[in-house]
Amino acid sequence: MLLARFGRRIAAETRIDSLLTIIAEEVRHILGADRCSVFLIDHDKHELWTKVALGVGEKVLRVPMGQGIAGFVAKTGSAVNIRDAYRDRRFTQDLDKLTGYQTKSLLAVPLKDREGKALGVFEVLNKSKGPFNDEDEGFLRILAAIASSSIENARLYENLRRSHLETIYRLAMVAEYRDQQDTASHLRRISKYTAIISAQLGLAYDLVEDLRYASPLHDIGKVAIPDAILLKPGKLTPDEYEEMKKHPVYGAKMLEGAESRLLKLARNIAMAHHEHWDGTGYPHGLKGEEIPLEARIVSVVDVFDALTTRRVYKGAWTMDETFQYMHDQSGRLFDPAIIDAFHQCKPQIEEMCLDERARDSQEATA
Ligand code: C2E
Ligand code: SIN
Ligand code: SIN
Ligand code: FE
Repeated sequence: MLLARFGRRIAAETRIDSLLTIIAEEVRHILGADRCSVFLIDHDKHELWTKVALGVGEKVLRVPMGQGIAGFVAKTGSAVNIRDAYRDRRFTQDLDKLTGYQTKSLLAVPLKDREGKALGVFEVLNKSKGPFNDEDEGFLRILAAIASSSIENARLYENLRRSHLETIYRLAMVAEYRDQQDTASHLRRISKYTAIISAQLGLAYDLVEDLRYASPLHDIGKVAIPDAILLKPGKLTPDEYEEMKKHPVYGAKMLEGAESRLLKLARNIAMAHHEHWDGTGYPHGLKGEEIPLEARIVSVVDVFDALTTRRVYKGAWTMDETFQYMHDQSGRLFDPAIIDAFHQCKPQIEEMCLDERARDSQEATA
């Protein structure tokens, strides 16, 4: 019964912090323990730190490797079950002194990866009735195995996701490389503006993160535009502009049929980031909510960034001029709801621009 509920709770959870917290909460509940902590090993600092510490407030507890019961368990890989911690020489009262707590019974089992290498320690304190027994220990070992494989999976997943996102970013760099001297910071700004506005619009965290990484691909189709047009220092002729206006369709073709949500968003953004709210944009003349939300957001971000930075064909506008222009174009080029969110984020956006400029000049002198 308890285990069934527990199984459902962890199956629904993919983020490692919430997952470990749920595991710790259930363990504390099922074993009737007062406190429950998950310690992880920090190899660089040579210490254990609490990833989760229930019943300790917000504090992160740290123990040097090899010290205390937790340190002993991490080092030796064997479990420890004691009735009265203060009578065990391995126990250190340092943490109790820090938290104003008195440990009595204590059960601690190691967390190990697939190869048996120590990851950390799972510890419960002060059982409400009597000492921890063998059954409690067996149960904690099973949960420790689940927690260990979750930690390992989360690390593998994190690594995979990071390499995936890095690849996407570099793909975007390839597309913009010819076009701008400051490709990297341009893409960083596009990412950050998009995330700031999307969060302000109240979109879910995971969607905001996908948009953060999908947005830099909006101009991927520009790789198919000839240098003579893309790099032209002056105004484009009508024919040249017609050619340039194909970049959304080229980009969408490159991303067509993608299966991940992130790349599907990127495809919609590539296709529709030059559509206008009033239907006067290209390539399809879509109007209002016919334009996917993700593309409406990036269209605001794209124009804002194009205006506030220098291009081969134009100088940079000031922040205030640009905000004024964006405001004037609300309901014409842009979705009014997104322009509202954009204006609410003005302080964050300005601050981010200053940070980026400082970073650029640092990189330039480095
Ligand atoms: P981009 O430079 O990144 O500009 C993106 C969008 O920002 C433009 O889409 C436009 O909506 C807005 N924007 C950029 N500069 C200005 C400006 O000076 N005034 C105003 N009001 N809006 C501006 P658009 O016009 O569809 O252009 C798409 C892309 O075509 C541009 O991307 C750029 O790569 C190229 N492009 C547009 N006009 C010219 C031009 O006169 N010369 C050259 N060499 N390229 C141009
Ligand atoms: C110890 O592992 O020695 C102390 C653990 C604790 O108080 O949480
Ligand atoms: C960019 O190169 O910064 C975006 C241009 C566009 O949207 O066409
Ligand atoms: Fe574009």
